Amino acid sequence: MADSQHDHCDWNSPTWWRQAVVYQIYPRSFADSNGDGLGDLGGIISRVPYLVELGVDAVWLSPFYPSALADGGYDVDDYRDVDPRIGTMDDFDAMATVLHEAGIKLFVDIVPNHSSNRHIWFQAALNAAPGSPERDRYIFRRGIGANHALPPSDWRAAFGGSTWEPVGDGWFYFHLFAPEQPDWNWRNDEVRQDFLTTLRFWSDHGVDGFRVDVAMALAKGFGTDFPDELPSREQMEAVPIGPDHMVYDRDEVDEIYAGWREVFNEYDPPRVAVAELWTEPSSRKARYATDRSLGQAFYFDIINAGFNALKIRAVVDEVLGWADQSGSSSTWVLSNHDQVRHASRFGLPDADSDDIWANPERDRQWLLSRGTAPVEDLARGARRARAASVFAMGLPGSLYLYQGEELGLREVADLPDSARQDPIFFRSPGRHVGRDGCRVPLPWTSDGPSFGFGTGPAHLPQPAWFADFAVSVEEEDPDSTLHLYREALRRRRELQGPEVLTWIDHLDAPEVLHFERPGGWQVVMNAGAEPCPWEKLGLSARPSLERILASGRLTEEALPGETTVWLLARATATLG
Ligand code: NOJ
Repeated sequence: MADSQHDHCDWNSPTWWRQAVVYQIYPRSFADSNGDGLGDLGGIISRVPYLVELGVDAVWLSPFYPSALADGGYDVDDYRDVDPRIGTMDDFDAMATVLHEAGIKLFVDIVPNHSSNRHIWFQAALNAAPGSPERDRYIFRRGIGANHALPPSDWRAAFGGSTWEPVGDGWFYFHLFAPEQPDWNWRNDEVRQDFLTTLRFWSDHGVDGFRVDVAMALAKGFGTDFPDELPSREQMEAVPIGPDHMVYDRDEVDEIYAGWREVFNEYDPPRVAVAELWTEPSSRKARYATDRSLGQAFYFDIINAGFNALKIRAVVDEVLGWADQSGSSSTWVLSNHDQVRHASRFGLPDADSDDIWANPERDRQWLLSRGTAPVEDLARGARRARAASVFAMGLPGSLYLYQGEELGLREVADLPDSARQDPIFFRSPGRHVGRDGCRVPLPWTSDGPSFGFGTGPAHLPQPAWFADFAVSVEEEDPDSTLHLYREALRRRRELQGPEVLTWIDHLDAPEVLHFERPGGWQVVMNAGAEPCPWEKLGLSARPSLERILASGRLTEEALPGETTVWLLARATATLG
């Protein structure tokens, strides 16, 4: 497919993804075509015109596989099928065709760290004896203490509770996340081969790329066959993430992904993948992003930079450096299905944390006004979110958008406990609210039982204020966030050039970030609360530069606070 929409990203080339705009769909919350309250593939097909109008290059589907939904579908029963509540394989093929005909590529989520406890191989492991080949596909250890009744170590799972679950015969299996998500043993060849089969399966069904869940945890430093006693939790946590860590970012993952790369390269154009990871130091991410490995890595660092100009600039420089180091492009993410939506995040006071899991929960507690709670400033959150999005859209590299951010949706912090689904809520228990608030189904219209999401109530309740953010409402409002995204993505397509930027420094306005891209495209963000006079930025009497797009209303005197503007050298501006 080659059309004017994709001239900027070499649609048919092996590197089409380098500066692509990828829109994340959380399938169960996007659009429901059969009225059962769960989004489905039919719903996605029906909204392809919306995606075209928005101007995205690709979609990434979070898991749509058969699952008991112990973790929103990241507990996969069968890697090579579709959850019957979401559709069929025929629906999947139809969706891939419709997307491709519309000029949109397709990423799917692949979850290689763990299956679900309902996976046929895990059931076989439970029914087999200790030491059997069936059990070797997962990570089993014998319990310790009298009758082997105690877990092999005191390690804590990411969602709370022990990482070890007893199976009743003195043995325990390891799960990094919920007990319903047993970890695979990646030293087992059958497991390795089965994932290669899965990669080929989806590639043969038209998938162009994969988002790799928990990409850095596959190679463990312990297992059934490791005789040594396990270190304590304290000892384990004292080891930095990296080659010597028990779980995260060991060097052996490189060999696994080198094998995946061989499969990707069987296809034309080669399939690509983006690794979900949070390594320390982040420079180790580059390993996953090379063309000997997955091809791209998520750099979530910008999420932890808050709305602070100095930190954002430092992150941009670092990320561009790591991208350069890997030979891949950079990736920019402000929201996803795990994070507090950025329109809410930016309405809260900034705070530093390098813990990607702790930060969202802290913000959610604040949004719920638990503890000493600062109040969410809605107008400020919305203003900053628009500014940050338009800033990120101007950066070189690829951009990952999360469904609903184009509407300016905020987090739904105050869901009733009875509606919550996230295992983080159940396993804390109840102390942490978890991630449901960013997964509430989209409002397509301002009325109806689920604001046009489906014909009945949605699987997570939508608040009344969603009506104001409905697609139908925003389409009628030229100042809406939807129109801003559409216009910015259209301009981005026209202006996109080589993956470089040059900073323009304003030493007496450190809250302003200003850079230029090739072709005379400039991006200026005022991250401060106060307006910054154009004159101070050397931009007052510059007839050579046209203001082509802004995240908020501009004035003749100054760039308002918490606002981003795009400028274009006039000779090329007329082309737009
Ligand atoms: C990361 C995913 O983004 C998250 O949603 C999931 O809960 C964990 N991995 C476990 O699969």
